[in-house]
Amino acid sequence: MESTKERMISLKHLIAAASTTNIQEELKQHQMRVSKICEKIARVLKMHYDSMVELLMAAQLHDIGKLWIPQQILDKPEKLDEKEMKIIKRHVFYGYEYVKSKKMNSSIAEAVLYHHERFDGKGYIGLKSKEIPLFSRIIAVADAFDAMTNDRPYRKALSLEEAVEEIKKNSGTQFDPEIADTFIKLGVYKINK
Ligand SMILES: [Fe+2]
Repeated sequence: MESTKERMISLKHLIAAASTTNIQEELKQHQMRVSKICEKIARVLKMHYDSMVELLMAAQLHDIGKLWIPQQILDKPEKLDEKEMKIIKRHVFYGYEYVKSKKMNSSIAEAVLYHHERFDGKGYIGLKSKEIPLFSRIIAVADAFDAMTNDRPYRKALSLEEAVEEIKKNSGTQFDPEIADTFIKLGVYKINK
């Protein structure tokens, strides 16, 4: 667990990060696509409008903390070593601090903080099952699907069918089975392609 001091983000860092346009553009596109999938899931779940707005804000910001992660780690084509993994995991804390600094609702900050939690408790921080906020459980499915269906520095994109198969395979372990089910059965994933 990072100390509060380590997690603090200064305005200076924010300005420096904002000038790294490449990652910014990719990040923006990824967060937009994730947000679209989240919206579809929220509509199927008949989520209250105000909650949906918060969910979509969280989705649009979920990886903002990556702006403070060195680009060579984000772009590394090989598997990350232990030290690099430790660094990349900080993005959830950076994102959390950023959202809090903008005085947004705490549910948005928490959704960002916990978006890499796994349903079985083996995620970044270790919350499990329904301890993980609903917004984070929704973002986790949308995020994984978008990551799998787009090229990454370390691998080519999977087909829609292969990605859906992965979500299915990891339902109940990585993902909340109810959210994964909603996503698969109702064809929520078809919206982006
Ligand atoms: Fe992330």
